[in-house]
Amino acid sequence: MPDDLTVIVLAAGGGTRMKSKTPKVLHQVGGRSMIGHVLAAVQAIGPQRVVTVVGHQREQVGPHVQSLLPESVLAVQETQQGTGHAVRIAIEALEAMPIGTVVVAAGDTPLLEGESLHAFVVDHEAAQRAVSVLSGVVSEPFGYGRIVRDGAGEVRAIVEEKDATAEEREIHEINSGILAFDAQFLAGALVRIGNDNAKGEYYLTDAVGLAQHDGLVVGAWAIDDVAQTEGANDRAQLAELGREMNRRVVTRWMKDGVTVMDPATTWIDADVVLAPDVTILPGTQLLGDTVVGEDAVVGPDSTLKDCKVAAGARVVRTHGELAVVGEGATVGPFSYLRPGTRLGAGGRIGAFVETKNAEIGEGSKVPHLSYVGDATIGRGSNIGAGTIFANYDGQHKHHTTVGDGARTGSNNTFVAPVAIGDGAMTGGGTVVREDVPPGALAVSAGPQRTLEGHAERRAARTTAGAGQPVGQTVGEHSTNPGADPGVGQTDPGGSQS
Ligand code: UD1
Ligand code: CA
Repeated sequence: MPDDLTVIVLAAGGGTRMKSKTPKVLHQVGGRSMIGHVLAAVQAIGPQRVVTVVGHQREQVGPHVQSLLPESVLAVQETQQGTGHAVRIAIEALEAMPIGTVVVAAGDTPLLEGESLHAFVVDHEAAQRAVSVLSGVVSEPFGYGRIVRDGAGEVRAIVEEKDATAEEREIHEINSGILAFDAQFLAGALVRIGNDNAKGEYYLTDAVGLAQHDGLVVGAWAIDDVAQTEGANDRAQLAELGREMNRRVVTRWMKDGVTVMDPATTWIDADVVLAPDVTILPGTQLLGDTVVGEDAVVGPDSTLKDCKVAAGARVVRTHGELAVVGEGATVGPFSYLRPGTRLGAGGRIGAFVETKNAEIGEGSKVPHLSYVGDATIGRGSNIGAGTIFANYDGQHKHHTTVGDGARTGSNNTFVAPVAIGDGAMTGGGTVVREDVPPGALAVSAGPQRTLEGHAERRAARTTAGAGQPVGQTVGEHSTNPGADPGVGQTDPGGSQS
């Protein structure tokens, strides 16, 4: 690699075809902004300095770039007068004139890989060119600058679509928009580039013709994998690049030992990390910074964003965000893990369970139909089916603590703040409002009342009524309201009005 490398990333353009309040380069592909992908590829080649040219919506683009690459210099291009103008502004933003090599790239090519950029710069250096163009051969060259070569195959110029002759428009070798320059040559060329062309812009690509004119070495390095240089100008292209990115990411993980049953319905973001022998079942999206450990199985039909799933865990039909699933733990089907969920090793979060800010200790289980919010559960405890951790009093959220080895009954409500001690138990239907000491049993329901002969009385009442057929509950309340304390509370599934 060159001794001194400066990379200029162009990101001042408007991106009007996105029709979005979000700047084009901030639209995401594979869970990362397009410019985030470009900056990652740029960083991979270890430049001495990076300048990012911002303009349109720079109040959004600038801070985003700084958050990803704090050392990047930001150059502001107030009005977009062309790529040549943008590069001039980038160089003016530097403290000193760059020496060595200057690479110019666009901020909207998310599939670009550091390896390609590296090979391009190495080739540029080795050939000691004044200008190198990263070119590609495409089936539909419309809109691109065309690489014009002479009879000997030497690059003569880059001609933009709007300035090209009919014959030049037939050329399928295009300028990707990525160029490498000898810094000294570039500095001189930038002041010579004019804007007397179809668009009235300062074309950076005119530097190629200038170098030719000066008798300097000019050349192109053609990339086989042209997709790496493709940009997204509208949402349809964004989706295409997203699909292609996903195809590449999924393929890479399969090569690294991950089983993906159905690559077509599996989405893995660029920053996800998977261990060997992970299995991903159809309809699964692993997003953001999700990490999955060895032998874990995720899916089918699960979405995990920024989650950590430890080795050997099993996550079935689950939606999770910022949650941690411990080693060998099981989740699902139909579980909703909200931020702050931490399930310990060997633990279980079962069907129709929602959790939030919930630390569930090693081996502890919340198997069925529950809400666990703002809670700490110790080790080896079992929470009965249909338990609600009532964490909100209408104004504030409160915490519930359950100790180790506790066994709580079905259909409980824990009214926070409340604590249930180690080894404690609760009866079915208990509403826990006061702390339960270790080893204690808490029950809150009153003694059961049993009214003998209820069914007979009810049948008699109905026959005596206004011609209602036997066995139908319609009209019972109006015929004889409140006659039996049990009636009218819940209907066990008979006909209803
Ligand atoms: C440019 C190239 C063309 C190449 C194509 C590849 C020139 C003159 N043409 O054309 O040969 O085939 O890219 O996509 O360079 N930008 C700025 N400031 C400006 C103008 C552009 O920052 O004043 C940025 C844009 O945000 C974008 C990049 O530069 O990231 C390319 O600009 P764009 O307008 O898309 O250039 P094209 O006309 O596509
Ligand atoms: Ca473009």
